[in-house]
Amino acid sequence: MIPAFAQQLMDTVQKAKEDGGPIAAIDACQDLAPNIAKQHSTSDWSLGRTSLKTRSDDNAPDEWERGVLQQFAERAAKGEDVKTISYAETVNGQFRLMKAIPLQEGCLGCHGNAIKPEIAAALDAKYPNDQARGYSVGDIRGAFTLRHTAAKQ
Ligand code: HEC
Repeated sequence: MIPAFAQQLMDTVQKAKEDGGPIAAIDACQDLAPNIAKQHSTSDWSLGRTSLKTRSDDNAPDEWERGVLQQFAERAAKGEDVKTISYAETVNGQFRLMKAIPLQEGCLGCHGNAIKPEIAAALDAKYPNDQARGYSVGDIRGAFTLRHTAAKQ
């Protein structure tokens, strides 16, 4: 579920970038990421993305997610490979899982240190509380978050 979501999201943003340039790719990320997440969710599972430094307030972590993101940061600081960091736990009878998202080369244009002025302006306009800048390759950008939403047993 998570790999398929990640792949489709990457393909969609990449295609928007090829077709319409980086500003179109921002729109794609904003409009399509939640939809693609929904597509890969089912009636019993909800899937999304979150971070300690979110771009969109809609992706803000809940308390459990914040704790797991802090745990991921500590594990990465101790040298664990970001690509394989994940954590699962049953919380109040609900299965929850998170998987770290490493920052890659292709993310720098919108999440790095040297964001082009026109892209920065487009981000400023859409995301007044954007904290998701200044990352380097290999940093933990955030995490996929999966939750079993079926009724508690
Ligand atoms: C074209 C610009 C662009 C590129 C390239 C890009 N992002 Fe984003 N990213 C965004 C936008 C815009 C959002 C906010 C989406 C929303 O409104 O939900 C976002 C949100 C996110 C989020 C959700 C948490 C948050 O901050 O709101 C994660 C995680 C994320 N991006 C990771 C990545 C990773 C990893 C890459 C590279 C593989 C990447 N992004 C490449 C523009 C981009």
